[in-house]
Amino acid sequence: MKKKVVSLILAATMIATMVTGCGGGSDEPAATDGAATTDEAGTADEATPATETGAADAADAAADAAGGDYADKVVGVCIYQFSDNFMTLFRTELENYLIAQGFSKDNIKIVDGANDQATQTGQIDNFIAEGVDVLIINPVNSSSAETITDKVVAAEIPLVYINREPDASEEQRWADNNWNVTYVGCDAKQSGTMQGELIADLGLETVDKNGDGKIQYIMVEGDPENIDAQYRTEYSVKALEDAGFEVECLTDQVGNWQQDQAQQIVANALGQYGDDIEVVFCNNDAMALGALQAIQSAGRTVNEDIYLVGVDALSEALEDVIAGTMTGTVFNDHFSQSHSAADAAIRFVNGETNEYYIGCDYVKVTTENAQEVLDMVK
Ligand code: GAL
Repeated sequence: MKKKVVSLILAATMIATMVTGCGGGSDEPAATDGAATTDEAGTADEATPATETGAADAADAAADAAGGDYADKVVGVCIYQFSDNFMTLFRTELENYLIAQGFSKDNIKIVDGANDQATQTGQIDNFIAEGVDVLIINPVNSSSAETITDKVVAAEIPLVYINREPDASEEQRWADNNWNVTYVGCDAKQSGTMQGELIADLGLETVDKNGDGKIQYIMVEGDPENIDAQYRTEYSVKALEDAGFEVECLTDQVGNWQQDQAQQIVANALGQYGDDIEVVFCNNDAMALGALQAIQSAGRTVNEDIYLVGVDALSEALEDVIAGTMTGTVFNDHFSQSHSAADAAIRFVNGETNEYYIGCDYVKVTTENAQEVLDMVK
């Protein structure tokens, strides 16, 4: 299976938008790095993808799976919102991988939380009543993790959280109580750092179009409750500052991971700040694609008079990086994350334990390696 190999090598209106204020999203998030495999603040080299940890884990799990029979095991999977592009890649790969490990498609029950915690909580209650063998949960609100954990643990069902990390005190509870609960995800600080480095690597003279010695930027944030949004916002700017750049935030707004909301935000910002905007940071690629639409409509040209970065490495964004219409992105390795989540679930089903945090690495994507990443994700 081609995709299995990957981890081996590698508002629409004012109402829908929310101004967080520049420097926003900077409340220090409470999540832990736990036993992440990534470096603090992620200064990983620009890289050809090399997520060897995922590779080893996948190989181990495949070996385990070869001896196991999971056809009658039931996995409940709760996704915060099916319409999210990145989580669609994630859940598709998760299902394929579980099937490859011997689970029956009918017994992999994936439900859409429709971005509503009450809906998702009802789905979790149903899975508990059904007596599933293991739960994989992408919470709508990470802050609901304590309540979710309590009910799932009381039902003696092992639990793997994905993508939206519960806070440090919640993770500590799992360890303190020896519960069969874990989190699988990447360190969002690393992705933010890489975004900042993508701009810093261009050099001040290239990026500072108005020659005032500062980088004027706008920030388009994902869901503000989400640690990925908080850390990407903070660490992208920090990386620029750490590289010696002076920065000025013109506006910082919430686009909720959505392309249409970002398009509107960036169109408005371009109307207000015009040529002063030198860099557009988007917390994900869906929003960067919306930003690109607004940039092009305003007659601006990426990599000539404005710079644009996202995160995820969606195919469309990679094509833009190759074409030079997006400055860069950061590969959010849904192969490694979904495989690690499935492997953790399998270990629980086998009666084994897991670390309380299972990390993975992001990969910086420029024109140099965008084609290579695209060949993998397609
Ligand atoms: C992030 C991803 C976003 C969005 C979000 C949902 O990791 O970059 O595109 O999917 O997760 O929580």
